[in-house]
This record gives sequence, C-alpha cells and structure tokens, in this order.
Amino acid sequence: MHFLKYPFIAFLAVLSFAGALHAREDSSFDPPALYLQWQRDPTRGMTIHWHTVGDAKSELFFRPLDTTHWKSALGTTKPLVGTERTVRIVELTGLKPGANYEFCFQPGARVFKFRTMPKDLSQPVRFITGGDVYHNLKWMGNTTALAAKLDPAFIVLGGDLAYSNGGTDPENISRWFDYFASWKTNAVAPDGRLIPMLVTLGNHEVKDSYRQPVEKAASFYSLFSSPGPQGYSTLDFGKYLSLFLLDSDHTHTIAGDQTEWLGKNLSARRNVPHVFPVYHTPAYPSFREESGIQAKEVRANWCPLFDKYGVKVVFENHDHCFKRTFPIRAGKIDPKGTTYLGDGAWGVEVRNPDPAKPKWYVEKSAGIRHFYVVTLTPEARHILAINESGQVFDEVYQRVK
Ligand SMILES: [Fe+2]
Repeated sequence: MHFLKYPFIAFLAVLSFAGALHAREDSSFDPPALYLQWQRDPTRGMTIHWHTVGDAKSELFFRPLDTTHWKSALGTTKPLVGTERTVRIVELTGLKPGANYEFCFQPGARVFKFRTMPKDLSQPVRFITGGDVYHNLKWMGNTTALAAKLDPAFIVLGGDLAYSNGGTDPENISRWFDYFASWKTNAVAPDGRLIPMLVTLGNHEVKDSYRQPVEKAASFYSLFSSPGPQGYSTLDFGKYLSLFLLDSDHTHTIAGDQTEWLGKNLSARRNVPHVFPVYHTPAYPSFREESGIQAKEVRANWCPLFDKYGVKVVFENHDHCFKRTFPIRAGKIDPKGTTYLGDGAWGVEVRNPDPAKPKWYVEKSAGIRHFYVVTLTPEARHILAINESGQVFDEVYQRVK
C-alpha cells in the first residue's frame, strides 16, 4: 500500500539501489586485498583480483606504462562466503608480451603496476616458489618481502596458504584477510610492480584436508581464478615454460581423471624445455613417512609420468622443512631421474628431519625456512635455495638437453 501511496519515493529508492550496484570506486579507494594471477597465456594477459565491501562495479582502468589514455575493463564477482566481502575479478587480454602496464580503480586514484611475461627466453626469466605460507605474519611478511626484493616475474605457492582450513567462521576467514593484507604490502618488486601469485590447494585450504568435495574449499575457489574450477591446471609461458598446478588429493583425487589429464598434457609439452609440476603433499616427504596415503598415490600415479616425459624438477611442500632428493627414476636413485625439491617452509614453524633416521631418497634436508629462486635460460635452469636471512644454502643446476 505504501509503495502505491508514495510512488516517487519508491522510484528514488530503486534508482539509488541501481546506482549503488553500478557505482565506481571513489578516488580514495584502496582495496584491502589486491592480487594478480594468470588463467591463460601469461605473455598476453593478467587477471586482477580485489576485494570490496558493498556494491560496486567490477571495473578498472588500465594502460601501457607511460601512456595517457585509460581504457576501462569490466569483470565478474564472487561472494566470499561468511564475509561481507566480494571478490572482484577482471581479466585483461590482448596485452603485449614483456610489457609494463598500470591500472587503477578510478582515474585519479592510486595507480598499481604489473608486467606481462616475455614471449621467449632471450633474457633469463626468474620466478620464485615455496609453500606453507602463513603461520604468523612476521614470518610470512619477512619471506615474501625477501622474495620480492629478488625481482621475480611471479611467485608460485604450493598450498597451505592462510591455514583457514576451509572454514567460513570469522576466525578462519580473518586469516585470509591477514594473508592478503600481508601479500599486498610485501609482494611488490623493486620497481613497484605487483608480483603475480600462482597457487595450488593444500590440506589447510580444505575442511577435513583430503578427498573432499570442492564445496569444502569454497573460500579457495572464490578467492582464486587459477588453477580454476577444475582444481588443477597448466599454464604455458610461450614455448619455454609450462607449470602444472596440481591438487594432491584435497578436492580431486590423485588417481583417475587428474592423472589421465596430467599424462595427456605432459605428453603435449614434450618439447617445452622447462616443465615444473607444483603440488602440496610430497611423493618423497622429508619429515613425514613415505608410507603416507598421498605420498604413495603420487609415487604410483604421477612419478611414472614424470619419468616417462622427462620432468627434471618437481616442487613439493607440506613437510615444513628444506629438502632436495637425489635424482629418482622408477623409484630408484638414477642420475637421469627427477629431483624433488621441497618441502614447504615459507612462513611456518619448521620441522627438523631426524638425522638418525635417514631416508634413502633424501640427499639433503633440514629445518630451514626458505624459498627457491628459479632462473631459466634456453640452455639451463639454475635453482637457488634461499633462507630467511637471504643466504643461498643450496643449489641445483641442470642443462637443458
Ligand atoms: Fe600441508
């Protein structure tokens, strides 16, 4: 009845609601979370994620660095379950390889920078990887800031990111807020550009850790557009690098569809000089027992494919220490085999493998907070292990055959 009695007020209310839905961010807007990923071709695109509270358009403005004309780009939204936040996602495509861009949420507002990946290895490409990221903000922030100073093109984190355990209660969700706030502050390269963050699932992204439906990792799937709804994916960087971001039994089983997909996609990349699988639970754990369910499954299903398709380095996580295995092939030490590097100690309490119980496959392990710096050229890959003080303490150098 009131609606009919005051049609003008109702009309204004509708207008105001519509206005809120389509409002742009104001010029003082600075999102509490801002992170970059790639869903496809990192040489030609960038996917920008940011969080807002309340209604606003998923719109941003971008331009090549040192140009004057802003172009608008529109995207999509996902609610972050259990919070007032909305995840806004804009994918830019058709960009130039190896080029610097800037973007903002309103012309005149704060400007952020990024760079697309180069189309080839005419200059060395450097990236950083690690996992098991946020036990406390001091460790996470320190390691991330140290990594950023080394000017990587991107960072790959192999699961156990915020330790939110798939929860949607305030305590668990606040861990994501802290995680992204730390990332936004620290994952900035010396030239001011934002460093993209690629991720995989770990057991602490999922309620009940293993063999769960995707709904048990609802936050992860809302927050990240990569590896995407399938839970695992490959990213191809020109013809020089392919990353495999895998789900080690958290929301997708190791055996079955994922293994079939992995074999098909490794086969299709036989001629790519640098191929790196990244996942959470290790085939060759440095601290835990090799008899663990996921360890056995990775060895039974994925390792034979790494052997078959000549994968030379794999990045594993989850055990909270440093690890380098001997090269392994067909379950034995073999100079022509795969080196498994790990084991996830970015920003967590470390564990110390017991020297009284050596594992046949571990060449070197220790409770050291660390990450890996990977430098790629057409001829070789050079991998340095860096501790939380910035010191190099281990190294792998392999020539591309
Ligand atoms: Fe883990």
